[in-house]
Amino acid sequence: MPYRKVRDVDKLQRLLSGVLMIEADVELAALLTHLVEEACSLVGAQYGALGVLNESRTALAEFITYGLSQERELAIGARPTGRGVLGVVVADGETLRLDRIAEHPLSVGFPEGHPAMTSFLGVPVRTPSTVYGNLYLTNKLDAERFSDEDEALVEALAQAAAIAIENNRLRDRLRLLSVIEDRDRIARELHDRIIQRIFAIGLALQEASRYAISDPTRAAIARGVDQLDIVINELRATIHQLDADPLPGGLRRNATDLIDELAAILGPRPTLDFSGPIDTTVPPRVADHLLAVLREALTNVAKHARAEHCAVAFAVDDGTITLRVLDDGVGVDSARGGAGLGLANLAQRAAILGGDFSIEALDPHGTRLTWRVPLGAA
Ligand SMILES: Nc1ncnc2c1ncn2[C@@H]1O[C@H](COP(=O)(O)OP(=O)(O)OP(=O)(O)O)[C@@H](O)[C@H]1O
Ligand SMILES: [Mg+2]
Repeated sequence: MPYRKVRDVDKLQRLLSGVLMIEADVELAALLTHLVEEACSLVGAQYGALGVLNESRTALAEFITYGLSQERELAIGARPTGRGVLGVVVADGETLRLDRIAEHPLSVGFPEGHPAMTSFLGVPVRTPSTVYGNLYLTNKLDAERFSDEDEALVEALAQAAAIAIENNRLRDRLRLLSVIEDRDRIARELHDRIIQRIFAIGLALQEASRYAISDPTRAAIARGVDQLDIVINELRATIHQLDADPLPGGLRRNATDLIDELAAILGPRPTLDFSGPIDTTVPPRVADHLLAVLREALTNVAKHARAEHCAVAFAVDDGTITLRVLDDGVGVDSARGGAGLGLANLAQRAAILGGDFSIEALDPHGTRLTWRVPLGAA
């Protein structure tokens, strides 16, 4: 979006349209991306970024940038850790405007591959009670520094972002509650009604067998009773699964372990990123699929990509979980033959859960694999 001078009315309209998107059921990441773009284009900034803390406030759950090429982002690698000037905005919950970032006493410098940045405008993404993260712009395009007006505009957009994030977290919590209630209800229903009924049928059959007129009839009834026993045991096992956590350690632990396991064949260690309420919303059955998909994707990177970097990201947003595996290797050949089964399996796993799968070569090189399924599918 090229920078252009806009009239005040235009500005207000665009501000409003950004805010109104919160109500229109737009995916959170898409909405935040839009807000960062609008912020940069409205005030004329070369770069912009929006960071959202995870719920435990230990790392960034979302980090959306504007103005950086994908290549550059891969080269910079890790996201900002919240030290330095960015941390100040979140910690104080106050807007910060600087002519030169480097001159701030808490500036810690930039990582390798990071573009040069001078003027800075950072505003907290907050509601009155909670600081969710920050929105910051750098390198004002047509002036030495950001203005009071810029500050007011960006603060308004950051407020919109905060409301959208709050909305999203509330919705996730509600969804989780209903999943837990559903599981409990199904387990109770199975136990209290279904198992007891089958049990009663078994008793009735045993009773009937006393009056059976022939041995073959008695034997047939006995087999039926045995079958019912098996069904009851299967149901008990299912109830147990509903109650228990069949994936000890959860998705995070297992994904990290998997990367450790494959480290030897992968060369450079992939970065691993989680965003959204992963621990509370991903059912074990979906997590099992995700780990199988990750194993295949990383094995493919090791076997075929010849990559220098690889990035793995799990994101829960708007009732779906997305796994992305990005590498900067030779790129998947769109004309690839039917040699392997791996990718076909990934497509099939996504289809079983009502989701989708894609893999594409990136320009100028590299591959992006995206595997996404709805969380309600479990
Ligand atoms: N990250 C990647 N970079 C480059 N090429 C890739 C990548 N992933 C897959 N490919 C290409 O896609 C082809 C199909 O992948 P797929 O996983 O289906 O098969 P495979 O890995 O060759 O065999 P299998 O998975 O059955 O052991 C690969 O042979 C390879 O050419
Ligand atoms: Mg494969």
